[in-house]
Amino acid sequence: MTPDVLVAHTLPPEQMQDMARRYRLHRLDLATPSDRPALLASAGPVCTAMVVSGHVTVDAKLLDQLPALRLAACSSAGYDQIDLAEMTRRGIALTNTSAALLDDVADTALMLMLAARRRLVAGDAYVRTGAWGRDGMFPLTSATSGKRAGIVGLGHIGQAIARRCLPMGLEIGYFSRSRKAGMDYRFFDDLAALAGWADILFIATPGGADTAGLISAPVLRALGPDGTLINIARGTVVDEAALIAALRQGQLGAAGLDVFLNEPTPDPALTALPNVTLYPHHASGTVETRARMAQLTLDNLAAFFAGKPLLTPVNK
Ligand code: DGY
Repeated sequence: MTPDVLVAHTLPPEQMQDMARRYRLHRLDLATPSDRPALLASAGPVCTAMVVSGHVTVDAKLLDQLPALRLAACSSAGYDQIDLAEMTRRGIALTNTSAALLDDVADTALMLMLAARRRLVAGDAYVRTGAWGRDGMFPLTSATSGKRAGIVGLGHIGQAIARRCLPMGLEIGYFSRSRKAGMDYRFFDDLAALAGWADILFIATPGGADTAGLISAPVLRALGPDGTLINIARGTVVDEAALIAALRQGQLGAAGLDVFLNEPTPDPALTALPNVTLYPHHASGTVETRARMAQLTLDNLAAFFAGKPLLTPVNK
């Protein structure tokens, strides 16, 4: 019998076609909420698996309408819109794809670090607009080699960032709930102390209620006027009003942000600042990585329907 799968997140065409060959797909189009009740009434009793992403809200209300569900295969690293405790309570497994996107996300963190410290975007505009040769010298910027990188959250992505920082001559420190076995980097159990020590602070911790506002005004002040904040995690981890104030008042040197509050329309006070480099929540947005994430999602579905262990379970 062909299994029924609810699709609440569209994968690239190749993987969508692959899924359509193996399963009966029920597309939950989030853009047309009026279609939802009818779709869920027919799909709810038969779908044992769903494809989702961290941007889709999966709460008790939705789960009530999916009584047969046993697996949510999430095609993203983050799952902060998914009520994991509720899923676990109902015996529903969650998988994610952080294993497939480490390299591109860590590359993006380094790209933002260099762009923010060397003012890449302003330099580009300076050349294109003819300001070079008309307005005097481009301002001096901040070096990176030989500085200190502080990493908030030394999970797989944090470790991939650290591995890239080492050959650039950066010293590494990290803040984490506990010291990580086998890691030679300097451990801080106090976030403000790490920020005071570091020149560049990378945020690589999950979003959600536990980390909301973790990067607070005192942490930003500790990072200081030559400090650079890089966020490739979630906008919620930063107190954004405090960040705007610190950048505006020169208490913080620069920021490089892939994520914000209120995506896709961040606070205009943030986008108006010259010392912030912005990227549209696109750290995993390469053809190669998106295909790998989609394939891992499919592999988790295949393992589930074959009764084999899931490849990347979140709630074990
Ligand atoms: C992820 O995979 O969590 C990325 O941030 C995209 O949401």
